[in-house]
Amino acid sequence: MSNFLEVKNLSVSFPTHDGLVKASNDVSFSVALGETLAIVGESGSGKSVSNLAVMGLHNPNSTVISGQAFLNLESGPIDVISAPAESVRKLRGKEMAMIFQDPMSALHPFYTVGDQIAEAWLLHNDGKKTDAMARATEMLNLVGIPDAHKRVNEFPHQFSGGMRQRVMIAMALVNNPSLLIADEPTTALDVTVQAQILQLLGKLQKELNMAIILITHDLGVVAEVADRVAVMYGGRIVEEGKVDDIFYNSAHPYTRGLLNSIPRVDKVGSHRLHAIPGQPPSLIALPKGCSFAARCEYKRFTQGSICNESVPALTVGTNGHSARCHLTPAQVAQHSLEIGTGA
Ligand SMILES: Nc1ncnc2c1ncn2[C@@H]1O[C@H](COP(=O)(O)OP(=O)(O)OP(=O)(O)O)[C@@H](O)[C@H]1O
Ligand SMILES: [Mg+2]
Repeated sequence: MSNFLEVKNLSVSFPTHDGLVKASNDVSFSVALGETLAIVGESGSGKSVSNLAVMGLHNPNSTVISGQAFLNLESGPIDVISAPAESVRKLRGKEMAMIFQDPMSALHPFYTVGDQIAEAWLLHNDGKKTDAMARATEMLNLVGIPDAHKRVNEFPHQFSGGMRQRVMIAMALVNNPSLLIADEPTTALDVTVQAQILQLLGKLQKELNMAIILITHDLGVVAEVADRVAVMYGGRIVEEGKVDDIFYNSAHPYTRGLLNSIPRVDKVGSHRLHAIPGQPPSLIALPKGCSFAARCEYKRFTQGSICNESVPALTVGTNGHSARCHLTPAQVAQHSLEIGTGA
């Protein structure tokens, strides 16, 4: 599979009165058409900031961005980080689209959902308003909204939370983008509706052959839908790999900690919920060594004080499974048994 999006050494920081907030730090990831990459990590680890940079949605006056993010279009690759804002605006909504956690904040309360979807279509297509409204109805049908021809004339507040999220998906997909970035798209929904929305995204992905980046806190969701997973911590990707390698053979102590902090149905009784003690690092004063060292139970198995002294390089193993740790994957696996929190 060839990659549609290739992010290379992306860094995003925000100059503030207190110092430079390094929210995304030398981040590289890619996603192919038809593939789902999940990005997971604690709150504040840089998931949204990294992806907003890909969408060109940061304010250039208050953000420092370096690195590259190539969209491999039929006409050739384009680096959306260095491309002029006007070119990126033309790609946004057409080649790449994003949906957010809270559809109410993204939908305008005074316009019908049909008007808003039609508007998104008209931005990138020459056509009449009637064509655009027909397309809006078609999209509402596609995302499974019953009586689409009637509901297209209703306002966002007339839809339930799950239905509003379907409207957002319809709006994001109205121009058949090749890349969909879904930032916590189901967090605000109850579990049944969440499952329906994820099923819908999976179905649309197959039909439209989209690359999907799914940003989520929820490892259960990851296990369901992801092909590959990138784990972020303190602005860096600390581990990346195929979903099974991440779940059954994780090579980074932070990932092991994350996996142990969720209750597992298959281990009831034998497995206590194990939250990772401590706090993530300050992004203004990142530690000299590994960002996770202060919380890492595996630090004692390394030589001297290497974890506090140097940032581990990203080492790539089989299947493209990579991790930033001074211990090898085999050492992490072995010590996880000793620590007793093996995932
Ligand atoms: N405009 C900004 N100015 C200063 N700091 C910012 C700005 N935007 C984000 N940050 C900081 O960057 C860090 C990363 O934020 P980001 O929104 O990417 O986290 P996240 O991983 O998406 O977290 P969550 O899971 O809570 O959505 C946070 O510490 C945040 O406070
Ligand atoms: Mg976020």
